[in-house]
Amino acid sequence: MTPPLIAASVVCTDFSRLGEEIARLERAGVEWLHFDSMDHNFVPPLTFGPLVLKAVRKLSRQVFNAHLMVADPLPLVAEYAESGADGIIVHREAVTDPAAALEQIRAAGCQAGLAYNPLTPLDDLAQWLPHLDLLIIMSVTPGWPGQKFMPIALEKIRQARALFAERGSAAQIIVDGGLNGETTPLVTAAGADVAVSGSFLMEHPGGLEAALRDLRSTA
Ligand code: DX5
Ligand code: ZN
Repeated sequence: MTPPLIAASVVCTDFSRLGEEIARLERAGVEWLHFDSMDHNFVPPLTFGPLVLKAVRKLSRQVFNAHLMVADPLPLVAEYAESGADGIIVHREAVTDPAAALEQIRAAGCQAGLAYNPLTPLDDLAQWLPHLDLLIIMSVTPGWPGQKFMPIALEKIRQARALFAERGSAAQIIVDGGLNGETTPLVTAAGADVAVSGSFLMEHPGGLEAALRDLRSTA
């Protein structure tokens, strides 16, 4: 079993030392940075916009993913692309025409992704595959970091993996929320490519190296 790529949820870093935190994450071997933009509308918290990606883009060679938990994401796509996003993921629940949304993100030069909330079924996923590079399967209700993993995500990961194999999709499956040393091996075994971690990674008593060891264990 191949260990997952790890995406650090930037909202869980120490914003008073953001540059140092990004450098520390890169040195520790964290492959992706996951930027949670929340608008106090689609989800309760209010976090940050493309300005933060722009501020740290020059500091890091990691893959930047913008996870847009916002009610009206499409007008923001160009600015995230210009700010250095490699991938932009909008919520299935926030767009009326997923195919058009994904093609707009691709036209802006980024990998295009959809995020599905824990209780949103993947029933319509197949029709978006020709436009899809990234799929986020939420394993918490979007909002605050530090929530408990929702096992409902496991069957959805298996379902998406089977669909991608059947249709020959190369899209990457990202799981987001409540991932730790116990839950990440489960999502990896179910077929996830990328594990997003915020609180477990940044608050592990053993530091980043120990947290990464736990997150990458496939036992
Ligand atoms: C939740 C966000 C996640 C979250 C991850 O809405 O999308 O990226 O910040 O943090 P943890 O790993 O603590 O759940
Ligand atoms: Zn996220």
